Amino acid sequence: MFITLEGLDGSGKSTQLHLLREALAADGREIVATREPGGTELGELVRTLVLEGPDMTAWPEALLYAAARAQLVAEVVRPALARGAVVISDRYIDSSLAYQGVGRGLGVEQVLELNLAVVGGLLPDRTFLLLVAATEADARQGAHRDRIEREHLSFHQLVDDGFRQLAAAYPERIVALNGSLPPAELAAAILAEVRRAEQGLPPASGAARADA
Ligand code: TMP
Repeated sequence: MFITLEGLDGSGKSTQLHLLREALAADGREIVATREPGGTELGELVRTLVLEGPDMTAWPEALLYAAARAQLVAEVVRPALARGAVVISDRYIDSSLAYQGVGRGLGVEQVLELNLAVVGGLLPDRTFLLLVAATEADARQGAHRDRIEREHLSFHQLVDDGFRQLAAAYPERIVALNGSLPPAELAAAILAEVRRAEQGLPPASGAARADA
């Protein structure tokens, strides 16, 4: 099973990844947690370049994220899935669709095509999108801001819009949740959806869903 967490910076993804990892570890299965960009030696180098490096235009940025992703899938994700592990990634393709496709204006279709090509078509079984208003996400962030986090609020609002469009376009994969709920409540909602996915069931609509 391949699970991804998505949302704006400051949406609480990392906390939920940690809670989900703990909950699933109790099953006794191997859990591989990773993050994007990163998770491999090359990916971490690309992370520094893309987040702390010089200004770049939109396609080079999209290509760098795609390069890190291609390496992560080949080196970590596919081997782990082949062993029967559960893989949980803090961000994946949907981040590129929302940030580069919508935020940078490259177009969702074009960015999707590039990314599907470099990962051999691998999409997650379930994606949890934590929705928080761009103003709230901004207020939750720490003092150090990377190249993307330093973008204007209007950019993050576009990205948020992009994520919401993706959730509407892929309801069988993306579960949009209200990221302002207490972490324990969100964690319970995510775990319940993972259990459904394990049984081959589609996402349910419930109280924690942002569109409920
Ligand atoms: P993180 O802070 O959640 O680790 O993510 C790194 C930053 O990179 C975050 O601001 C979102 C951005 N990003 C993209 O713009 N496109 C992508 O494909 C990914 C994975 C992240």
